[in-house]
Amino acid sequence: MIVIGSDHGGFALKEEIKKHLEDKGVAFTDVGSYDGASVDYPDIAKAACEKIVSGECDKGLLFCGTGVGISIAANKIKGIRACCCSDAYSAKLTRQHNNANVLCMGGRVVSGGLAEMMVDQFLETEFEGGRHQRRIDKITAIENEQ
Ligand code: RB5
Repeated sequence: MIVIGSDHGGFALKEEIKKHLEDKGVAFTDVGSYDGASVDYPDIAKAACEKIVSGECDKGLLFCGTGVGISIAANKIKGIRACCCSDAYSAKLTRQHNNANVLCMGGRVVSGGLAEMMVDQFLETEFEGGRHQRRIDKITAIENEQ
């Protein structure tokens, strides 16, 4: 199960990606925004990421105007590794190397076609483990020191 969410800046792209997920038969839950009205991206990041840390959802797709604000907010939540991407290579590598569990994109930055490609890479690529696990463990250690 995937959780998906956006503020007003990412709303239109979120709706496009929802259609893409439906076409591919990927199950998702949407934590809003539901109408494109102005909302604060930290509220959406929190609602979405809580579903990941609770185990209700495996991964998240978050959108704001740039993808930056919502990724900063998501990364404040323990256990979240969110990456803000605007290319498919990074969306794939952040799974292989960083074991990212949230992909953030900017509705004012990337096109629908590119976002679909990034989502596919992100959802279909496995974490490689090995030397990368050691680095993830160090990120977790930093998180636990806070
Ligand atoms: C909202 O106007 C905008 O600031 C937000 O969507 C996002 O781009 C912040 O990083």
